[in-house]
Amino acid sequence: MQTIQKETELPFEEYIMNNKWQGRSIDVKSYWQFHAKSLENFEEFWASVAKELEWFKPWDKVLDASNPPFYKWFVGGRLNLSYLAVDRHVKTWRKNKLAIEWEGEPVDDAGYPTDRRKLTYYDLFREVNRVACMLKCNFGIKKGDRITLYLPMIPELPITMLAAWRIGAITNVVFSGFSADALAERINDSQSRIVITADGFWRRGKVVRLKEVVDQALEKASGVEHVIVYPRLGLKDTPMTEGRDYLWTKVMQGIKPNVYIEPEPVESEHPSFILYTSGTTGKPKGIVHDTGGWAVHVYATMKWVFDIRDDDVYWCTADIGWVTGHSYVVLGPLLMGATNIIYEGAPDYPQPDRWWSIIERYGVTIFYTSPTAIRMFMRYGEEWPRRHDLSTLRIIHSVGEPINPEAWRWAYRVLGGEKVAFGSTWWMTETGGIVISHAPGLYLVPMKPGTNGPPLPGFEVDVVDDSGKPVPPGVRGYLVIKRPWPGMLHGIWGDPERYIKTYWSRFPGMFYAGDYAIKDQDGYIWVLGRADEVIKVAGHRLGTYELESTLVGHKAVAEAAVVGVPDPVKGEVPIAFVVLKQGVAPSEELRKELREHVRKTIGPIAEPAQIFFVTKLPKTRSGKIMRRLLKAVATGAPLGDVTTLEDETSVEEAKKAYQELRAEVEKA
Ligand code: WT7
Repeated sequence: MQTIQKETELPFEEYIMNNKWQGRSIDVKSYWQFHAKSLENFEEFWASVAKELEWFKPWDKVLDASNPPFYKWFVGGRLNLSYLAVDRHVKTWRKNKLAIEWEGEPVDDAGYPTDRRKLTYYDLFREVNRVACMLKCNFGIKKGDRITLYLPMIPELPITMLAAWRIGAITNVVFSGFSADALAERINDSQSRIVITADGFWRRGKVVRLKEVVDQALEKASGVEHVIVYPRLGLKDTPMTEGRDYLWTKVMQGIKPNVYIEPEPVESEHPSFILYTSGTTGKPKGIVHDTGGWAVHVYATMKWVFDIRDDDVYWCTADIGWVTGHSYVVLGPLLMGATNIIYEGAPDYPQPDRWWSIIERYGVTIFYTSPTAIRMFMRYGEEWPRRHDLSTLRIIHSVGEPINPEAWRWAYRVLGGEKVAFGSTWWMTETGGIVISHAPGLYLVPMKPGTNGPPLPGFEVDVVDDSGKPVPPGVRGYLVIKRPWPGMLHGIWGDPERYIKTYWSRFPGMFYAGDYAIKDQDGYIWVLGRADEVIKVAGHRLGTYELESTLVGHKAVAEAAVVGVPDPVKGEVPIAFVVLKQGVAPSEELRKELREHVRKTIGPIAEPAQIFFVTKLPKTRSGKIMRRLLKAVATGAPLGDVTTLEDETSVEEAKKAYQELRAEVEKA
């Protein structure tokens, strides 16, 4: 195990003592006392949070741990997410409060957005009921059916999710940046009956034709009865298959504005969504989340981490296609009755101040974003945020990958005016909600640039060595969660074995997150990055195995190894070492073709930054690819232990390929 000194032994002035923070603060010791109490009364603690939600039927048991790791939360309880996010508010003064402020990408000559929609909670109530009716009455969707949503960032995405949950259907949202093959795989694995999509959307001033991707995907997917197409752009030439495809607006014409669909009182353990995420081997895993536990976890963290109040304007910049969007664009803010910003387009379109103009125009107070975005804006320069009034901001959080202290300091100063609470919330698709974070809504502990902070109340987190024993402060180990938590995954769709193997086998009785981390002397957690063969590209999770099998799927490729290398903006980018089939000559065109092949098969985020042609890959004697060595070659790091390496010339060759390409790039 490696001792890491640099980040933990910060000089005293690096601790930001919250002096300009207007909210509650606490010293670290008192926080840990509070945290210890939450664990002592673990079940009562979570029950007291759950009581703040409205249940159609109260639970009999807070936690059923009789069959680990198949834990069940709030057993016997019944509730409905759409009721909690919408109906509950329309019974109060929030009925006329803005629920969603939506802004499309296009702007007029003066730089003002031309496509805007404002939905009150009452509007949302009406729309959710109408769409629930469409699903149920027109397409016969019932409790437990899976529906795939392949939609851009438009209000119809959260509306359809809420409508699905209203009738007990299970959503399978696929990020609109994924390509046809990735979509087909997710439709098939989830056995979805219908797909809901849009004709297209705006991205960087260009039209993205989404429905055509669905058509391609459906050549490979089976079991889909219908496709519903929302006309976001009103394209006249969208291909429609008679009898299968329906225009959203045509179907909705027949549904009365005041239709009411009774919210289905589903069991707490009833699945609400499946979301596919990359792992180290095999195809993406369909992570399943329940209803009750997820709602309680998301609700708690909206209060603790985001401190939502009724006068807040909340903006989480994540795409709904990722888990951050599920928990903190759709469910979280709407559970709280908050005003929620949703923006369709690129962050720097038409200029690098688009986000800052949104914060200024709506008076955003709570801002949840990613380190990648912050680093991109750092590069554009301070003058862009300086053009706008960002003084409304009071809390900023980031998520998706470690935040480097420079990016933290920049955002704290330039965006937050040194008066905000700002943390890096750690969690993952599998956890359902934030697990490690500063909690300015409870009390803010002193901030340190780059840390994730202490675990939230009710979460037992630790950093352990190879044998599962806690490591001392400053020593790198593996991040684990030592007891179940409400928002935890409820398995992998259709694959209980893989669920046990991936998360609960490495360290018995503990959830294995797959991250390296250290604890510092205050008990703060610093997540350092993935400990497995998963890479994070601009915060998005990609399995190197997935990329490798895509490359090998190309007719010219015999073998491929993919590793992640550091990138100043995206955090990490994939690079590929490729062995071509006998008789295929390496060329610049082929390189381009392979990159294009990955874009087309998985999506633009997966495109390798570089492709190196080699004649062999470094392998162990038993034939395992030693990606670690390739990474060392590409980052100039020492090779470390090479005793298991079978053929040393493979590394020499990779080095040469790397240096040659670098020389070429430098020349050009
Ligand atoms: C992985 C999970 C959960 C929302 C988005 C990502 C990394 C996430 C942080 C953070 C350091 C982080 C971890 C984790 N990660 N947040 N604040 N600091 N690393 O969800 O795609 O499931 O990825 O993202 O490596 O395991 P995801």
